[in-house]
Amino acid sequence: MSQHLLTVDSLSRESVDHLLRVAARMEPIASRRQVTRVLEGAVLGNLFFEASTRTRVSFNAAFCRLGGSVCDTTGFTFSSMAKGESLYDTSRVMSGYCDAIVMRHPDQGSVAEFAAATHVPVINGGDGPGEHPSQALLDLYTIDKEFQRLGKRLSGAHILLTGDLKYGRTVHSLIKLLSLYDPLRITLVSPPGLEMPSYLIDLVASRGHRIEQRDSLASDFADLDVVYTTRIQKERFTDEMNESFQGLSDDFMVNRDFLDKRCSQSTIVMHPLPRDSRPGANDLNVDLNGDPRLAIFRQTDNGIPMRMAIFATLLKVDDLIEKDLRPV
Ligand code: CP
Repeated sequence: MSQHLLTVDSLSRESVDHLLRVAARMEPIASRRQVTRVLEGAVLGNLFFEASTRTRVSFNAAFCRLGGSVCDTTGFTFSSMAKGESLYDTSRVMSGYCDAIVMRHPDQGSVAEFAAATHVPVINGGDGPGEHPSQALLDLYTIDKEFQRLGKRLSGAHILLTGDLKYGRTVHSLIKLLSLYDPLRITLVSPPGLEMPSYLIDLVASRGHRIEQRDSLASDFADLDVVYTTRIQKERFTDEMNESFQGLSDDFMVNRDFLDKRCSQSTIVMHPLPRDSRPGANDLNVDLNGDPRLAIFRQTDNGIPMRMAIFATLLKVDDLIEKDLRPV
């Protein structure tokens, strides 16, 4: 694994498998059945210049669970970037204060620009419509755990990615990560104008996966293993798109009816969250709440052990955990 985690492109199949193993080892520490202070004295800079609940809080909790402490900055208003400070200067300053930095920023490429000026590991917590590599890793970890529970294998699995595939950075990172594995069947369904970028479709096809685009969910998905749906990222729309977008039609709605009629009893439903609960949003219906196929909250729980694994690996303490275990 390279010094930073900015994009899934820097991960090999071996490094991903290592992170999956370390995350599994972190489970009892993430749930405080075991305790380690392996990062005692270390400081995380958690810089979020765009809204977040899960990523910000779970990176914070993951660092604390390893014994470290966290300095948070939320929003441009409370950072000196509001006074015109550059990414370069911010990065040089923060890397003097911290041992690792997580950053979310609305501009694609900004986290990489920030990382270029620092000597401490930087994790991309989401850069505009670019990537969200830690989310993809926890998503893959979730698929792996769910498949183990269901007695399924990733090889040959059928995975549906639906919703806003153009601006949804989680699906950009996830499809690249999945493409590192044995051949899969991947189906893409998105409203017109919000299709998966063609360079990603070409990449996945070039790695031997079967990839298909459909224009709605109104067809049979009986052999589907995973539905991964995403919110429409209206905050990234142009004014023209915002004026013309009428909301998601029923053809794109993931709800109990879709799951019962079109899928199977072993199809799991994932979503990076947040799901949009405002009228007309429809990315993931609440009528699935309580259905065991809905994996979204198991998925969010998996964020802690995976983010602990990312810190432990980047800060090179993954081999020290066993020796550092302490009584609860
Ligand atoms: N999945 C995700 O990135 O959620 P947040 O925006 O709440 O961090």
